[in-house]
Amino acid sequence: MRNAFFNLTAVMIINLMITPNMLKAQDIALPAPSRKGGKPLMEALDARGSAREFSERDLTNQQLSDILWAAWGINREADGKRTAPSSHNRQEMDVYVTLKSGLYIYDAAGNTLKQVHDRDIRALTGTQDFPATAPVNLIYVADLTKRGLREGQQVTDTDQLSSWANTGFMAQNVYLWCASEGMSCVIRAMVPRNTLAPEMGLRPLQVIILAQTVGFPAEE
Ligand SMILES: Cc1cc2nc3c(=O)[nH]c(=O)nc-3n(C[C@H](O)[C@H](O)[C@H](O)COP(=O)(O)O)c2cc1C
Repeated sequence: MRNAFFNLTAVMIINLMITPNMLKAQDIALPAPSRKGGKPLMEALDARGSAREFSERDLTNQQLSDILWAAWGINREADGKRTAPSSHNRQEMDVYVTLKSGLYIYDAAGNTLKQVHDRDIRALTGTQDFPATAPVNLIYVADLTKRGLREGQQVTDTDQLSSWANTGFMAQNVYLWCASEGMSCVIRAMVPRNTLAPEMGLRPLQVIILAQTVGFPAEE
Protein backbone atom coordinates (compact mmCIF):
# COMPACT_ATOMS: atom_id res chain seq x y z
CA MET A 1 0.00 0.00 0.00
CA ARG A 2 2.78 2.36 1.03
CA ASN A 3 4.79 1.39 -2.06
CA ALA A 4 1.76 2.00 -4.27
CA PHE A 5 1.38 5.50 -2.76
CA PHE A 6 5.04 6.31 -3.41
CA ASN A 7 4.81 4.94 -6.96
CA LEU A 8 1.73 7.07 -7.68
CA THR A 9 3.40 10.17 -6.22
CA ALA A 10 6.52 9.52 -8.31
CA VAL A 11 4.43 9.22 -11.49
CA MET A 12 2.62 12.49 -10.68
CA ILE A 13 5.91 14.33 -10.07
CA ILE A 14 7.44 12.97 -13.31
CA ASN A 15 4.29 14.02 -15.20
CA LEU A 16 4.48 17.54 -13.78
CA MET A 17 8.14 17.74 -14.79
CA ILE A 18 7.69 16.62 -18.39
CA THR A 19 4.21 17.87 -19.37
CA PRO A 20 5.19 21.44 -20.41
CA ASN A 21 7.43 20.16 -23.24
CA MET A 22 5.35 17.17 -24.22
CA LEU A 23 3.50 17.08 -27.50
CA LYS A 24 -0.25 16.86 -26.97
CA ALA A 25 -2.48 15.08 -29.50
CA GLN A 26 -3.87 18.42 -30.70
CA ASP A 27 -0.42 19.94 -31.31
CA ILE A 28 1.06 19.86 -34.81
CA ALA A 29 4.58 18.43 -35.01
CA LEU A 30 6.16 20.22 -37.97
CA PRO A 31 8.67 18.65 -40.36
CA ALA A 32 12.14 20.22 -40.31
CA PRO A 33 12.18 23.56 -42.16
CA SER A 34 13.73 23.42 -45.64
CA ARG A 35 16.45 26.07 -45.00
CA LYS A 36 17.70 25.66 -48.59
CA GLY A 37 16.48 26.49 -52.07
CA GLY A 38 13.91 29.07 -53.05
CA LYS A 39 14.33 31.92 -55.52
CA PRO A 40 17.50 34.03 -55.49
CA LEU A 41 17.02 37.02 -53.18
CA MET A 42 16.79 39.64 -55.96
CA GLU A 43 14.12 37.63 -57.76
CA ALA A 44 12.12 37.26 -54.54
CA LEU A 45 12.37 41.02 -53.95
CA ASP A 46 11.25 41.55 -57.53
CA ALA A 47 8.14 39.42 -56.91
CA ARG A 48 7.22 40.70 -53.41
CA GLY A 49 3.78 42.28 -53.08
CA SER A 50 0.55 42.27 -51.07
CA ALA A 51 -2.46 40.21 -52.16
CA ARG A 52 -5.97 40.19 -50.71
CA GLU A 53 -7.60 37.29 -52.55
CA PHE A 54 -6.79 33.79 -51.40
CA SER A 55 -7.68 30.21 -52.24
CA GLU A 56 -9.22 28.30 -49.30
CA ARG A 57 -6.74 25.44 -49.85
CA ASP A 58 -4.79 24.53 -46.70
CA LEU A 59 -1.02 24.88 -46.55
CA THR A 60 0.97 21.68 -46.07
CA ASN A 61 2.77 21.14 -42.76
CA GLN A 62 6.06 21.59 -44.66
CA GLN A 63 4.88 25.01 -45.86
CA LEU A 64 3.81 25.93 -42.32
CA SER A 65 7.20 24.86 -41.01
CA ASP A 66 9.07 26.85 -43.67
CA ILE A 67 6.99 30.00 -43.30
CA LEU A 68 7.25 30.00 -39.50
CA TRP A 69 10.99 29.35 -39.65
CA ALA A 70 11.29 32.26 -42.10
CA ALA A 71 9.27 34.46 -39.73
CA TRP A 72 10.82 33.60 -36.40
CA GLY A 73 12.70 30.32 -36.53
CA ILE A 74 16.02 29.58 -34.87
CA ASN A 75 18.83 29.79 -37.45
CA ARG A 76 21.80 29.64 -35.03
CA GLU A 77 21.13 26.71 -32.74
CA ALA A 78 24.28 27.30 -30.69
CA ASP A 79 22.86 30.47 -29.10
CA GLY A 80 19.16 30.22 -30.00
CA LYS A 81 19.20 33.29 -32.27
CA ARG A 82 16.53 33.79 -34.90
CA THR A 83 15.85 34.55 -38.58
CA ALA A 84 14.65 38.05 -37.56
CA PRO A 85 16.46 40.51 -35.27
CA SER A 86 15.12 41.76 -31.93
CA SER A 87 16.25 44.68 -29.80
CA HIS A 88 18.92 43.50 -27.31
CA ASN A 89 18.03 39.96 -28.47
CA ARG A 90 15.10 40.04 -26.03
CA GLN A 91 13.05 37.88 -28.39
CA GLU A 92 9.79 39.19 -26.97
CA MET A 93 7.72 38.19 -30.01
CA ASP A 94 5.44 35.18 -30.32
CA VAL A 95 3.78 34.08 -33.54
CA TYR A 96 0.23 32.81 -33.09
CA VAL A 97 -1.36 30.95 -36.00
CA THR A 98 -5.07 30.69 -36.75
CA LEU A 99 -6.08 27.67 -38.82
CA LYS A 100 -9.50 26.07 -39.41
CA SER A 101 -8.59 23.60 -36.67
CA GLY A 102 -7.93 26.25 -34.04
CA LEU A 103 -5.43 28.69 -32.57
CA TYR A 104 -1.79 27.69 -32.16
CA ILE A 105 1.45 29.22 -30.92
CA TYR A 106 4.73 28.55 -32.74
CA ASP A 107 7.32 26.81 -30.58
CA ALA A 108 10.49 27.40 -32.60
CA ALA A 109 12.79 25.30 -30.41
CA GLY A 110 10.40 22.33 -30.55
CA ASN A 111 9.41 23.01 -34.20
CA THR A 112 5.80 22.54 -33.12
CA LEU A 113 2.51 24.35 -33.32
CA LYS A 114 1.08 24.12 -29.81
CA GLN A 115 -2.68 24.30 -29.77
CA VAL A 116 -4.12 27.07 -27.60
CA HIS A 117 -7.73 26.09 -28.38
CA ASP A 118 -9.70 24.36 -31.12
CA ARG A 119 -12.01 27.20 -32.21
CA ASP A 120 -11.79 28.68 -35.72
CA ILE A 121 -11.25 32.38 -34.96
CA ARG A 122 -9.87 33.41 -38.38
CA ALA A 123 -12.82 35.80 -38.92
CA LEU A 124 -11.98 37.59 -35.67
CA THR A 125 -8.42 38.42 -36.75
CA GLY A 126 -9.35 41.24 -39.13
CA THR A 127 -11.90 43.83 -40.11
CA GLN A 128 -11.60 42.87 -43.79
CA ASP A 129 -13.38 39.85 -45.28
CA PHE A 130 -10.50 37.67 -46.54
CA PRO A 131 -8.96 36.63 -43.15
CA ALA A 132 -12.10 34.55 -42.44
CA THR A 133 -11.56 32.21 -45.39
CA ALA A 134 -7.81 32.35 -46.05
CA PRO A 135 -6.14 29.22 -44.58
CA VAL A 136 -3.58 30.96 -42.36
CA ASN A 137 -3.42 34.16 -40.34
CA LEU A 138 -0.24 34.84 -38.41
CA ILE A 139 -0.68 37.10 -35.40
CA TYR A 140 2.45 38.81 -34.12
CA VAL A 141 2.21 39.24 -30.35
CA ALA A 142 4.73 41.02 -28.10
CA ASP A 143 5.19 39.67 -24.58
CA LEU A 144 6.22 42.87 -22.85
CA THR A 145 7.23 41.03 -19.67
CA LYS A 146 10.28 40.00 -21.75
CA ARG A 147 11.04 43.72 -22.13
CA GLY A 148 10.99 44.16 -18.35
CA LEU A 149 7.40 45.37 -17.83
CA ARG A 150 5.52 44.03 -14.82
CA GLU A 151 1.91 42.83 -14.73
CA GLY A 152 -0.37 45.74 -13.80
CA GLN A 153 1.92 48.31 -15.41
CA GLN A 154 0.40 50.66 -18.02
CA VAL A 155 1.72 49.96 -21.54
CA THR A 156 2.87 53.06 -23.43
CA ASP A 157 3.50 53.43 -27.18
CA THR A 158 7.24 53.68 -26.45
CA ASP A 159 7.19 50.27 -24.73
CA GLN A 160 5.99 48.77 -28.01
CA LEU A 161 8.29 50.56 -30.49
CA SER A 162 10.88 47.79 -30.74
CA SER A 163 8.16 45.16 -31.09
CA TRP A 164 6.69 47.00 -34.09
CA ALA A 165 10.14 47.10 -35.70
CA ASN A 166 10.72 43.45 -34.81
CA THR A 167 7.39 42.52 -36.41
CA GLY A 168 8.35 44.41 -39.58
CA PHE A 169 11.38 42.18 -40.02
CA MET A 170 9.38 39.01 -39.38
CA ALA A 171 6.62 40.04 -41.76
CA GLN A 172 9.11 40.92 -44.50
CA ASN A 173 10.68 37.48 -44.13
CA VAL A 174 7.21 36.01 -44.71
CA TYR A 175 6.65 38.31 -47.70
CA LEU A 176 9.92 37.09 -49.23
CA TRP A 177 9.10 33.44 -48.54
CA CYS A 178 5.72 33.94 -50.24
CA ALA A 179 7.34 35.68 -53.21
CA SER A 180 9.85 32.84 -53.50
CA GLU A 181 7.19 30.10 -53.30
CA GLY A 182 4.46 31.71 -55.44
CA MET A 183 2.24 32.15 -52.36
CA SER A 184 0.16 35.21 -51.41
CA CYS A 185 0.17 37.31 -48.26
CA VAL A 186 -0.60 40.71 -46.79
CA ILE A 187 0.46 42.33 -43.53
CA ARG A 188 -2.45 43.87 -41.64
CA ALA A 189 -2.81 46.60 -39.04
CA MET A 190 -6.59 46.46 -39.38
CA VAL A 191 -6.98 44.01 -36.51
CA PRO A 192 -9.74 44.35 -33.87
CA ARG A 193 -7.23 43.99 -31.03
CA ASN A 194 -9.67 44.54 -28.15
CA THR A 195 -12.01 41.75 -29.24
CA LEU A 196 -9.30 39.43 -30.54
CA ALA A 197 -7.03 39.46 -27.46
CA PRO A 198 -9.56 37.76 -25.14
CA GLU A 199 -10.42 35.22 -27.86
CA MET A 200 -6.71 34.34 -27.87
CA GLY A 201 -6.53 34.20 -24.07
CA LEU A 202 -3.79 36.86 -23.97
CA ARG A 203 -2.51 38.35 -20.70
CA PRO A 204 -2.58 42.18 -20.30
CA LEU A 205 1.12 42.53 -21.16
CA GLN A 206 0.77 40.47 -24.33
CA VAL A 207 0.13 43.02 -27.07
CA ILE A 208 -1.08 42.25 -30.60
CA ILE A 209 1.15 44.14 -33.02
CA LEU A 210 0.10 43.10 -36.54
CA ALA A 211 -1.46 40.15 -38.35
CA GLN A 212 -0.50 38.63 -41.70
CA THR A 213 -2.78 36.57 -43.92
CA VAL A 214 -1.12 33.84 -45.99
CA GLY A 215 -2.41 31.38 -48.58
CA PHE A 216 -2.36 30.11 -52.12
CA PRO A 217 -3.29 32.74 -54.73
CA ALA A 218 -7.03 32.86 -55.52
CA GLU A 219 -6.77 32.40 -59.27
CA GLU A 220 -5.28 28.92 -58.88
C1 LIG B 1 2.13 48.67 -41.06
C2 LIG B 1 1.27 48.22 -42.24
C3 LIG B 1 -0.06 47.97 -42.04
C4 LIG B 1 -0.86 47.50 -43.09
N1 LIG B 1 -2.16 47.19 -42.83
C5 LIG B 1 -2.93 46.67 -43.81
C6 LIG B 1 -4.26 46.24 -43.54
O1 LIG B 1 -4.75 46.31 -42.41
N2 LIG B 1 -4.96 45.70 -44.55
C7 LIG B 1 -4.46 45.57 -45.82
O2 LIG B 1 -5.17 45.08 -46.69
N3 LIG B 1 -3.20 45.95 -46.11
C8 LIG B 1 -2.41 46.48 -45.14
N4 LIG B 1 -1.11 46.82 -45.39
C9 LIG B 1 -0.54 46.55 -46.71
C10 LIG B 1 -0.38 47.83 -47.53
O3 LIG B 1 -1.64 48.32 -47.92
C11 LIG B 1 0.50 47.54 -48.74
O4 LIG B 1 1.78 47.15 -48.31
C12 LIG B 1 0.58 48.74 -49.66
O5 LIG B 1 -0.64 48.98 -50.29
C13 LIG B 1 1.66 48.56 -50.73
O6 LIG B 1 1.41 47.39 -51.49
P1 LIG B 1 2.53 46.25 -51.65
O7 LIG B 1 2.74 45.61 -50.31
O8 LIG B 1 1.94 45.28 -52.64
O9 LIG B 1 3.77 46.89 -52.13
C14 LIG B 1 -0.30 47.32 -44.36
C15 LIG B 1 1.06 47.58 -44.57
C16 LIG B 1 1.85 48.01 -43.52
C17 LIG B 1 3.33 48.25 -43.75
